[in-house]
Amino acid sequence: MLRLSIVAGFIASLLASVLSSPALRAGDSLQIAQISGDPDKPRRHFRVRRPARLDSTEAEEIYQDLVDQLAAGYATSGRPTAQDYRAWRRYNTAPYLSATHGNLYINNYVNEAGRAYGRFEDAGTLPVGAIIAKDSFIVERSGEVRPGPLFVMEKMPKGFNYVSSDWRYIQINPDGKFFGETHGEGDERVAFCIGCHLAVEQQDHLFFIPGPYRVAP
Ligand code: HEC
Repeated sequence: MLRLSIVAGFIASLLASVLSSPALRAGDSLQIAQISGDPDKPRRHFRVRRPARLDSTEAEEIYQDLVDQLAAGYATSGRPTAQDYRAWRRYNTAPYLSATHGNLYINNYVNEAGRAYGRFEDAGTLPVGAIIAKDSFIVERSGEVRPGPLFVMEKMPKGFNYVSSDWRYIQINPDGKFFGETHGEGDERVAFCIGCHLAVEQQDHLFFIPGPYRVAP
């Protein structure tokens, strides 16, 4: 039941790249069949069905080999965050498997304006201009490694979007293809992000990093 209610919150964020990439189409670990409804209004992330379970050292090694390629892919979107985020502080010690973002290995980078993020549950409300960028990659149990999307939350001026406490959610696919952003291109494709993050409305819609992966404050 718990799983069901969690699952209900997310769908198919990589759908566009899944559909446009023959390599991904061939991968049988994507639960394409379970994506229902309009692909332009995903209800949850696409999921990797059989992710490899890596320890932190292994995950970090794979990430270090991949990160230049990842960042170069996002950067072709031309979006400033996609070009800048690698210079920001990373608040996790090693990539970790994020079930809520489709079983991808992810990292959390935050710009200077959002540095209070490093106080985690004591961060309060992040100021306008704070940007959190989460890059991601896929590691299959078979050992296959592929880039994943860049997930972004950007704090916009008051009045931007009441329901998300003025956070703008953005997703950029690994090939740099822009997937969607709140109140912009592909708005409906990222509406599901807001729904899940609303569960932690009382801490400015931020879930933070799982305990073992947090950098020291
Ligand atoms: C089913 C719930 C769920 C959905 C849907 C979801 N997230 Fe998250 N998000 C989380 C959780 C839980 C965390 C913290 C743990 C983690 O990183 O996995 C998080 C963390 C984040 C963070 C780091 C800031 C923080 O909260 O600590 C960003 C950025 C982010 N998500 C962006 C997105 C975007 C963009 C989307 C939509 C494309 C999205 N999320 C959809 C649950 C979700």
